[in-house]
Amino acid sequence: MGLFSREPKFEIMEGRPVPRHIAIIMDGNGRWARKRGLPRTAGHAAGCETFRKISNYCKKIGVKYFTVYAFSTENWKRAQEEVDAIMSLMEQYLKEAIRDMQKNQVRICFFGDLSRLSPELRALADEAVAESRDYEIQANICLNYGGRDEIVRAARAFAADCAAGRAKPEDLTEDAFSARLFSAGVPDPDLIIRPSGEVRTSNFLLWQSAYSEYYFTDVLWPDFDEEELERAIASYNGRSRRYGGIKP
Ligand code: FPP
Repeated sequence: MGLFSREPKFEIMEGRPVPRHIAIIMDGNGRWARKRGLPRTAGHAAGCETFRKISNYCKKIGVKYFTVYAFSTENWKRAQEEVDAIMSLMEQYLKEAIRDMQKNQVRICFFGDLSRLSPELRALADEAVAESRDYEIQANICLNYGGRDEIVRAARAFAADCAAGRAKPEDLTEDAFSARLFSAGVPDPDLIIRPSGEVRTSNFLLWQSAYSEYYFTDVLWPDFDEEELERAIASYNGRSRRYGGIKP
């Protein structure tokens, strides 16, 4: 846990420690748009604005790692127009992130298989990752990401090491397995937030969430704001994290 670097905007979490790692399932963009008679793509554009606002706020209050679920391995099933719109929002965001990198000082990482993205988007992602690698505060964008897919890839990587004689089955520990995940080196999320009223994990950070605290809210992601984030943190602070043990 880190303490906030600056004053929070609301009194809800004043004086309380902030989680070191917050992860968010940015859900409800489609419903937000439908409620307004707008196309789903408008919901994603609004959701992208919320991502900007909340990632900035997390940085401001001292969150060290911020992870968002932007596009799952299953989201390719959506209409091509919607997929293209999300990819184009990502492209726009990465261009800005590269332009403003020295001002923002945030390390950008991706969890997911980027090989299916367009060459242009992949190049931007590679550039953002390479240019930001020395910054300490880290934003992880889950793109073409699935928790099961991540686990299978890690298992495959370890099996390949065994087949090549670089490892033995008994070498596999939880730490050795974690080191083969997209999230290698990143501490597990302390708090996972899911807006929009859905109460499920949807293949998000399956391995890493073993002892994460969850916060569910009915607010749709485009309407999610700093105040709701503070409510989530206040709720997190009221939890007793025992990791399977007993509080002394
Ligand atoms: C889930 O809501 C949202 C997505 C699948 C896409 C989220 C993507 C963005 C907010 C843009 C990402 C850009 C950056 C830069 C991180 P939904 O469409 O499933 O909503 P619904 O359940 O209401 O239909």
